[in-house]
Amino acid sequence: MDLISALESLEPELEKGLDQASSLDELEQLRIEFLGRKGRLAQIMSQLPELAAEERPAFGQKANVVKERANASFEKRRDELLAAREAAALARFDASMPGRKPNKGSLHPDTLIMEEICGIFGKLGFDIAQGPEVEIDHYNFEALNMPPEHPARDMQDTLYITDTILMRTHTSPVQVRTMLARRPPLAVVVPGKVYRRDSDLTHTPMFHQVEGLMVGKKITMAHLRGILTAFVRGVFGPATQVRFRQSFFPFTEPSAEVDISCFLCGGAGHLGHDSCRVCKGTGWVEILGCGMVDPAVFEAVNYPSDLSGFAFGLGVERIAMLKYGIGDLRMFFENDLRFLTQFGA
Ligand code: PHE
Repeated sequence: MDLISALESLEPELEKGLDQASSLDELEQLRIEFLGRKGRLAQIMSQLPELAAEERPAFGQKANVVKERANASFEKRRDELLAAREAAALARFDASMPGRKPNKGSLHPDTLIMEEICGIFGKLGFDIAQGPEVEIDHYNFEALNMPPEHPARDMQDTLYITDTILMRTHTSPVQVRTMLARRPPLAVVVPGKVYRRDSDLTHTPMFHQVEGLMVGKKITMAHLRGILTAFVRGVFGPATQVRFRQSFFPFTEPSAEVDISCFLCGGAGHLGHDSCRVCKGTGWVEILGCGMVDPAVFEAVNYPSDLSGFAFGLGVERIAMLKYGIGDLRMFFENDLRFLTQFGA
């Protein structure tokens, strides 16, 4: 076949190929086949020297026209295929479908309850104080009237870093730190993590407490009772009753444990004929320990002896379990989203 007719037959073949190309990939293959550096047009052109000199200009012109038209055809086909692809995507797209909601995080129930507790005490005039979770024996025990070998230490075994450095067993060391750093009068609440060598259904090696401390002149147990009553009514509702039961802590004297009337049965101890499962039929649930700051603690921080004050400490998970009716403490630390997302703000 002579070169001119080879050139002429290129165009209908290309048109046929373009019609058949059904994707951009196929189109690109076709472009390489016809217009690539070693493509069919290039091969025809490479035979130019074989033509007689007088035939070359006309052939060259024709080849250029073919090349330009081919390029234009490719471009047109590419636009068509792009438009078809877009139309297909649009056909699948239903603008009336509800959008996909992004997965929003939610605050951990511990965080929510701590914020709620600190918010209530904030309105009552308390500041927030914090202290380290890795604590020295002196602040965790000794300054709180628990010298070495004191039997009360047994109840709060913990993880020791060295003989004198440990993971704090309660937030009470922040009482000591606060009194060393500030002059009275003062009122603080201390939210934070605490650690104990404990692990069963109702105890985890780490849990959260909120400590409270108020120190000034003529602070009495009546103030303690009034503040705690306002607090439990804020968390559990205005009808909640409060009861003090005498107790013991080395760093408070006198000491008490506080019970609230059971919010599930309203203090009756039963629901219809069934014994109440929250208070186990007693009508009361224990929620915290408290007392008047022991003079030995004031002495340890060099506070004058004419001061008085109260302190309390409560378990955050315990409050959350009571408030939300959660039966298993371990839920708090298993990071199961089905549990955690139920408490979203
Ligand atoms: N620190 C005590 C505990 O963890 C609670 C407490 C705090 C009691 C303050 C009295 C006063 O058990």
